[in-house]
Amino acid sequence: MKIAVLTGAGVSAESGIKTFRDSDGLWEGHDVMEVASPEGFERNPKVVLDFYNQRRKQLLTVKPNAAHFALADLEKNHDVTIITQNVDDLHERAGSTNLIHLHGELLKVRSTFDEDLILDWKEDLNLGDFCENNHQLRPHIVWFGEMVPMIEVAADVVARADAVIIVGTSMQVYPAAGLVQYAKPDAHIYFVDPKPSISESKRITVFAEKASIGVPKVVELLK
Ligand code: APR
Repeated sequence: MKIAVLTGAGVSAESGIKTFRDSDGLWEGHDVMEVASPEGFERNPKVVLDFYNQRRKQLLTVKPNAAHFALADLEKNHDVTIITQNVDDLHERAGSTNLIHLHGELLKVRSTFDEDLILDWKEDLNLGDFCENNHQLRPHIVWFGEMVPMIEVAADVVARADAVIIVGTSMQVYPAAGLVQYAKPDAHIYFVDPKPSISESKRITVFAEKASIGVPKVVELLK
């Protein structure tokens, strides 16, 4: 069976990575547009680079949780594609192999000039350095107001899926939040979130619980 999985910050919450819109969201001490917009980067690259450097260092201290492992497990019996809004590498570290990072990856950087020039953000890489042709490096993150290059690929995956699993997203940020509209009429939708933003119906099963509890239940159902 083809399964499309759409994950948001909630799937990594129990690993210790804060979500964006819960009370003490990720942006603490920083106005979103200051650290997650091209204008903010233009205005003060050092604040932005330090912000992402902190988040990158935190990533080295957290681990995948039961939800990430259950989704990786699902690959054993099905054709699974994980479409994540998250920039962490927890799905990969849990063993998932087929991923689309809609909003970029924290462990990668790219040239501000040539967006196809993407490098691993290694320990010794100081983003203040200039890569060849003297172009400033920046985090490989899709900032507010920027295009989401992989959105068409992701929409195609959802349109072909026999089942769609949605985990830990407030469904507030487009175009990612609009992906569920591409699901086939006969594709069942499983929604896992302690504060679900969509309600149960004939084709939608809601698990109003944490990812580490709800996702293994969905995976068990689909095995
Ligand atoms: N398990 C499952 N879901 C959880 C958990 C948990 N333990 N804890 C919180 N949640 C849910 C919240 O109820 C909420 O619905 O996770 C969701 C998190 O929503 P957001 O903080 O809005 O995160 P997300 O939907 O991923 O944000 C989308 O917005 O800021 C931008 O680019 C950023 O990718 C991000 C995008």
